[in-house]
Amino acid sequence: MNPENKTFQVQFQPLGKRVSVSDGATLLEAARQAGIQLASACGGEASCGQCLVVLKKGKANPLKSAEQFLLEEGDIKAGYRLACCTQVLSDITVQIPKESFITGQRLQVESNLAEISPDPQVQAYAFELKPATLEDTRSDLKRLLDELTSQHQLSDLKASLPVIQDLPNSLRQMDWRGVVLIKDARIISVLPEDKKPIGLAIDLGTTKIAAHLVDLETGDNLATGGISNPQSSYGDDVINRLAYAIRNPNGGQELAGLVRKSLDEMLGDLLDQAGMERRQVAEGCLVGNTAMTHLLLELPVRQLANAPYVAAYSEALDIPAGALGLGMAAGATMHIPPNIGGFVGSDHVAMMLASDLDQSEKVTLGIDIGTNTEISLRLPGSEKMTAVSCASGPAFEGAHIKDGMRAASGAIDKVRIHDGQVDLTTINDQLPIGICGSGILDSVAELYQGGYLNETGRFQKGNQRIRSRDHGAEFLLVAAKDSGSGKEIVINQKDVNEVLLAVGAINAGFNILLEITGTAHESVDEVIVAGAFGSFLNIQNAIRIGLFPHLPNAQFRQVGNAAALGAKWMLISGEARQRAQEIARRTRYLELTTYPKFSRQFARGMIFPNRK
Ligand code: FES
Repeated sequence: MNPENKTFQVQFQPLGKRVSVSDGATLLEAARQAGIQLASACGGEASCGQCLVVLKKGKANPLKSAEQFLLEEGDIKAGYRLACCTQVLSDITVQIPKESFITGQRLQVESNLAEISPDPQVQAYAFELKPATLEDTRSDLKRLLDELTSQHQLSDLKASLPVIQDLPNSLRQMDWRGVVLIKDARIISVLPEDKKPIGLAIDLGTTKIAAHLVDLETGDNLATGGISNPQSSYGDDVINRLAYAIRNPNGGQELAGLVRKSLDEMLGDLLDQAGMERRQVAEGCLVGNTAMTHLLLELPVRQLANAPYVAAYSEALDIPAGALGLGMAAGATMHIPPNIGGFVGSDHVAMMLASDLDQSEKVTLGIDIGTNTEISLRLPGSEKMTAVSCASGPAFEGAHIKDGMRAASGAIDKVRIHDGQVDLTTINDQLPIGICGSGILDSVAELYQGGYLNETGRFQKGNQRIRSRDHGAEFLLVAAKDSGSGKEIVINQKDVNEVLLAVGAINAGFNILLEITGTAHESVDEVIVAGAFGSFLNIQNAIRIGLFPHLPNAQFRQVGNAAALGAKWMLISGEARQRAQEIARRTRYLELTTYPKFSRQFARGMIFPNRK
């Protein structure tokens, strides 16, 4: 047999999944092929240390230097490997430890902001047709159009090919009577009389996808859900994913296919929950940052990934749902609202809309923290608003942190350190297996407040939990005997440095935004904090470490997933769509890196403020 054609079986435990891969494929590739989402923040670049597996049986390549660097000695002895570094050289069995799964994470779907009344874009008209006979052989479409003209005075209506393909069977199944859904003089579908039109609002986040299934007439939520973005196994941040799409000939197609499939499956789940049918879904609205929408639409991304970071589009788009692989009504479209610029996309427009930032009568900052953080400023009396985007990195998603994990069951989400003792809580009160964004922020803030870190983030002696290790000092948060994985959970020097990088980037974003618009810190009245991490973080601790500047008069308002709510508003209301267009038009995008003082501000932001 030609050795180049050799394939081996990989068996993943505890799932019992088997997959056949070619000789030399990595375990990360095998996991992707098996549809297993392994945590892999760096996208397989051997730098995050998250794609842990335990080699149980079979032959693989020797340990790579990245593994020697990232894995503990004890783990190496226990058979731990990094999936992205391990090549399959025989049939293999591997165990996936709990902390390597991207599942069951806390997905912030809801917002505490107000709802709006619908101003539906899709209209439903009842019809009853005379069945076709040998004496009346008008086409099905003509028959329907004639009826709509005579009964509802509707003329010049258009129907797309999928609608015409659907019509003959549907009309006969419905016995020639029902309702026809129409938007902007386009027929979307025909439905039985007892079925109502519904819509789908999606916030396509880099890490998570949140969606609402909505009654288009009443605006009621019929079902709500959230899933992990399946592209996460190609890298936690947008840069890694754009790089994958650029480097691999079919990379863009692969990433688009992955997210489209998940969106369609999520739609199926929401419809099951609500007891509704796909043909009722008359329209969708999807928001996301520019990288996410470009990848979904399979647009070229090379120009977006490199300076001057130009998007392929910035205007609102209406894309046939079928072209995105979404099983909705035959003529349904997905509305994608406009972008602002750079990586500030329609999700930030949606957040500004739902939080009414554009109409605020106060000096208001809006911030949505993620792997990419967007901040915008509204000054009353000024037509223009200003937005910046900061490459804050995925530290607060639990990535690039030694024992970091997503906000899933068993993640440490709150930490208090007093008199050297640690109090913590975990999601779902499970034994701790790692630490998520809000827990990481708390840990660093508490360590600084307690004097265990100095203002540049270096560990200080004086607590028995602080230990010296080859790669620097670390703080023992949870002993092995108290954790759910039987392994210690620590915050090490590199983790603190990662947090400092995020803090520096976001702090610089705030300060430059205020400086460039001539806004004094004291004059900020309100800070709207949106997004999943923003909903759970401790504001006091965020100020302590300088993640948020000390704004003496500002009220901080944590609003939850405002982007998903904004998407819903735009789904049910033409007026909200109009306002979103206005927000995008009125918001000036500021590229931070072109600001001469950016490096200085960034470096200054990486020094913790004086303790209060
Ligand atoms: S180290 Fe393997 S995916 Fe990051």
